[in-house]
Amino acid sequence: MGPILRIRRFALPPTRRGAYGSRHDVVLGSHAVHLARREDQLAVIAAMPLEIWDIRYLTDGQARSIGELIHATWPKPHMTPAARAAQQLEIGRQYAHAGVHEPRAIVIVEGDAVVAHASVLPRTVGTERGDMTIAGLARVCTAAAARGRGLGEAVVRAALGLVDAGEFEFALFQTNGRVRGFYERLGCVPVENLIVNSLAEDPMAAVFWDEVAMRYPVHGDWPAGTIDLRGPGY
Ligand SMILES: CC(C)(COP(=O)(O)OP(=O)(O)OC[C@H]1O[C@@H](n2cnc3c(N)ncnc32)[C@H](O)[C@@H]1OP(=O)(O)O)[C@@H](O)C(=O)NCCC(=O)NCCS
Repeated sequence: MGPILRIRRFALPPTRRGAYGSRHDVVLGSHAVHLARREDQLAVIAAMPLEIWDIRYLTDGQARSIGELIHATWPKPHMTPAARAAQQLEIGRQYAHAGVHEPRAIVIVEGDAVVAHASVLPRTVGTERGDMTIAGLARVCTAAAARGRGLGEAVVRAALGLVDAGEFEFALFQTNGRVRGFYERLGCVPVENLIVNSLAEDPMAAVFWDEVAMRYPVHGDWPAGTIDLRGPGY
């Protein structure tokens, strides 16, 4: 008989948490588990339920709670939480005919609110070596009041775990210089490829707007040259 719980990823960040010398984070089943170690003692210091929602089947309430967090994280004068919720439902519609790779919202819910979120948007992209199915990681955010508790790390680890599990060859995403270190410590690395959308009016224009494009994992046979997202940046 195989293992009952699949450990998707394991890491030892060099942190100090209270009296404990180091913290271990694992995604066990549907929980992000934080363990701390002091000498030969190991303790569970937190276990947070992760929820994985298929974006094609979001309820209005789920879309609204994601929309509220996205609006609070990236406020824009012309946007409202309801408009952000509508964007989520629209993404679901865009994937209506998707095959085996479903678009997912990985979330941690506290009370009625989504307090941490990461989208996994599958894309079959064109590369100089042929097509490749990647996990497009997007809208990674933790509610301001809940930051620093490991929630952002937990949702990103769960998203990257889909790559570890073999569902995707790589994850590909964009971020800024301030958050780059957050991803690097989780095993991501910047990429230099030009990232375009051949279906756009200007098929050779870069479609990621942020400072850094990154992939996961560091190892593996990552192609050089232009990457065609065959759709807009995310
Ligand atoms: C980036 C963000 C998601 C981090 O969420 P969080 O829940 O506070 O992060 P965590 O508590 O899980 O942090 C895990 C570890 O990463 C570290 N970390 C957090 N933000 C970091 C950053 N910007 N750079 C480097 N390390 C960072 C933490 O110190 C922690 O390390 P530790 O285990 O050694 O203490 C959150 O700050 C956020 O929502 N920012 C605004 C939105 C944003 O910029 N999103 C990224 C878009 S690509």
